[in-house]
Amino acid sequence: METYRALWVTETSEGKFERTVCDLPAHQIPDKGTWIKVRYSALNFKDGLSASGHKGITRKFPHTPGVDAVGTVVRCADGQFQEGDVVLVTGYDLGMNTYGGFGQLISVPSEWVIPMPAGMSELEAIVLGTAGFTAALGLYQMELNGQNPEKGALVVSGASGGVGSMAVTIFASAGYEVIASTGKSHESDYLKSLGATSIISREEMLGHETRPMISTRWAGGLDTVGGKTLESMLRATGLYGNVAVCGLVDTPEFSTTVYPLIIRGVNILGVASAETEKSIRLKVWEKLAGPWKPKTLDLIHQKTIGFDELNASLDDILGGRTRGRVVLDLWK
Ligand SMILES: NC(=O)c1ccc[n+]([C@@H]2O[C@H](COP(=O)([O-])OP(=O)(O)OC[C@H]3O[C@@H](n4cnc5c(N)ncnc54)[C@H](OP(=O)(O)O)[C@@H]3O)[C@@H](O)[C@H]2O)c1
Repeated sequence: METYRALWVTETSEGKFERTVCDLPAHQIPDKGTWIKVRYSALNFKDGLSASGHKGITRKFPHTPGVDAVGTVVRCADGQFQEGDVVLVTGYDLGMNTYGGFGQLISVPSEWVIPMPAGMSELEAIVLGTAGFTAALGLYQMELNGQNPEKGALVVSGASGGVGSMAVTIFASAGYEVIASTGKSHESDYLKSLGATSIISREEMLGHETRPMISTRWAGGLDTVGGKTLESMLRATGLYGNVAVCGLVDTPEFSTTVYPLIIRGVNILGVASAETEKSIRLKVWEKLAGPWKPKTLDLIHQKTIGFDELNASLDDILGGRTRGRVVLDLWK
């Protein structure tokens, strides 16, 4: 490929950011060893931030966002992949300070590249993407630490969000009862269709308790919210339960007493999907293609767009108007 089409985010002399779709010379992409012709990307909140010039995500512009990419290997310098191999890349520095999946061509270190797991289509992989991988990584860590469906239900906060809805469907596929906590009562039917066994409102999740521990309400959970939500989750987690912490949509702060930890043996597990080492990524993707494969990905896959709709869809994700996953077909 001599040229490739990409979203190109540029900074003007007034410090504003502009998004254009243009054809760019392939030789301007820094060579990181493995070249991939991208078939699909998907929209994440982080991509919206990068596409708006958020310097905490992307330091230098012009830039092409896109933290998720699925496609075909064109060339691999260290021979770890062959031309034509179907692969996926999520996280690491992709789309942050490395040109990302909103371009038809990327170059990344082979360490970042995951062979497409047997039994998973390109579309399924991109619908899962970073959101699905993060939810599954949370469950992987919990199970390493002794969680299993016999211990009882898992609670998911921010359940209608990208990571939350993936967690609901993946945990249900893995055999767990799932309690979905949501601020949107109108999403109850959607969450039940994804596999939630019960729905609680944000207020119910928080309760009015100030005691350090209350009667057990769940055996573990995944928190995307932080703050009082996480505090309430810990307070009501059962004996030797695990709480996987992955997000901060409310606040990065939380406070707790040590009682849930020293009386009930509750574990707080951190989830850092972008930096996860490859050996663990391979295991988690194998689970996602096998026993944890969500049965309801088609419900989470909201739509597939082309470059012509990308700008508006990025504004939607930043404005909180997106439900589920929006896939970008780079060749539509
Ligand atoms: N650690 C990692 O590796 C990793 C990877 C990916 C994402 N994340 C983080 O995970 C979090 C969720 O990401 P996402 O992509 O799922 O975001 P999202 O799609 O925007 O979903 C967030 C959900 O949280 C709930 N929510 C929003 N504001 C809230 C508030 N003030 N209080 C309580 N709940 C609130 C809403 O769900 P309901 O209305 O259903 O409650 C919302 O849909 C973010 O903080 C993101 O940075 C972390």
